[in-house]
Amino acid sequence: MSPDSPHKLSVALDEAKALYINRNAKSQAIHEQATKSFPGGNTRTVLHTDPFPICMKSGQGYQLTSEDGNIYTDFTCEFTAALYGHSNPVILDAVSNVLQNVGMNVGATTSQEQLFAQELCQRFGLERVRFTNSGTEANLHALAAARVFTNKRKVVVFNRGYHGGVLGFKDGKPAPNNVDPNDWIVVKYNDVDAAIKAIQSEGVAAVLVEGMQGNGGCILGTPAFLTGIQDAAAKAGVVFILDEVMTSRISASGFAGLRGIKPDLKTFGKYLGGGLAFGALGGRADIMAAFDPRLSTSISHSGTFNNNTLVTHAGYAGLNKIYTPDVADKFTEMGSLFLSRLQEAVKGTRISFTGIGSVMCSHFVEGDVEVKDIASGDDVRENDALKDLFWFEMLEQRFWVTRRGFIALVLETPQSELDRFVDAVKAFVSKYNDLLAI
Ligand SMILES: Cc1ncc(COP(=O)(O)O)c(C=O)c1O
Repeated sequence: MSPDSPHKLSVALDEAKALYINRNAKSQAIHEQATKSFPGGNTRTVLHTDPFPICMKSGQGYQLTSEDGNIYTDFTCEFTAALYGHSNPVILDAVSNVLQNVGMNVGATTSQEQLFAQELCQRFGLERVRFTNSGTEANLHALAAARVFTNKRKVVVFNRGYHGGVLGFKDGKPAPNNVDPNDWIVVKYNDVDAAIKAIQSEGVAAVLVEGMQGNGGCILGTPAFLTGIQDAAAKAGVVFILDEVMTSRISASGFAGLRGIKPDLKTFGKYLGGGLAFGALGGRADIMAAFDPRLSTSISHSGTFNNNTLVTHAGYAGLNKIYTPDVADKFTEMGSLFLSRLQEAVKGTRISFTGIGSVMCSHFVEGDVEVKDIASGDDVRENDALKDLFWFEMLEQRFWVTRRGFIALVLETPQSELDRFVDAVKAFVSKYNDLLAI
């Protein structure tokens, strides 16, 4: 950056913010109203953005319309859960069939739940599966199963890992709201030796890891890191849990299938419920037997909505009729091409894009070197002001991207919108060339 760049950056940011306020008056009024019921006007922390969040009125296909009447191309994709878009006819059919012909909240097992279970087992190579209402719950129950199976308590996790609202790790320790502050060993992501050492230590029940840290900025685990964890866990009798909540869409058989890794348990969520609240955990039958209610040793796994008819029908239809194995693989190919075009567009600047397939993240890296490949978020410092500026500018171009730079694609996004985004990124690079130069 040139010596006068910080000033230029703060002027550009002030202008962008003023435009945002001007464009979104109705959203601002709704936010002010919301502060009277919700603390800070918010009931989902990630969606709070300063000075106030844009409030969405509706979604159709790959687009969202704000209360202020602006139409956005959805590049947030509900943090990967909106894979099927906002009004997919197959999902609408499945939901309306339940409402009209099946009924909600039947308070009993149904034949549909085992059909959906079979589908998940086949797709993701699971011997047994259990359903939950969220990815957070899936991870909590997977950890419970691992603890029962091993009769140990400690869990190896990775810095900047995110496994749910009460299972986040930052600054080398569990986040303040962590469900279980004491039982973690937090290791640097992609540090194979440190991971192996931690897995081999006394009293470890499980190692819980994302194949790609999603919330942590779409940082990919290296093959050596993931297979190192797998081998060390197998040797030490530690349960290897792969968190596929964000990555299961990355291939016909998820991230594990793509990379040929074989975790003991996997956890799932997001789009797999067809756009409804859902989570699942599954894998080795001997570990999942912890939940077999026929056994006197079993632990309870409850949840009023675990097998609700809406989600078991919508989720099954989504996998069977929309995101078939072939479509999943092709979508990842398409996403990877888009990602490589973005990487090309920002070459030689302090922006980098990381990720895989249709899930990616932009980074605005401080320092004098071009960072193409980030192995751990611990190794880079990001410029939040530049990140904010990018966010404001992309909103102005009517792309609904997340403030933290995370991007995921909706299945039906037309190629013309992908091209338009690549052009918008190129225009940003050229407009702020001096701020982005290394
Ligand atoms: C990798 C990962 N695990 C778990 C979760 C938690 O899922 P949920 O928000 O459904 O509780 C998330 C959510 O973003 C996630 O990205």
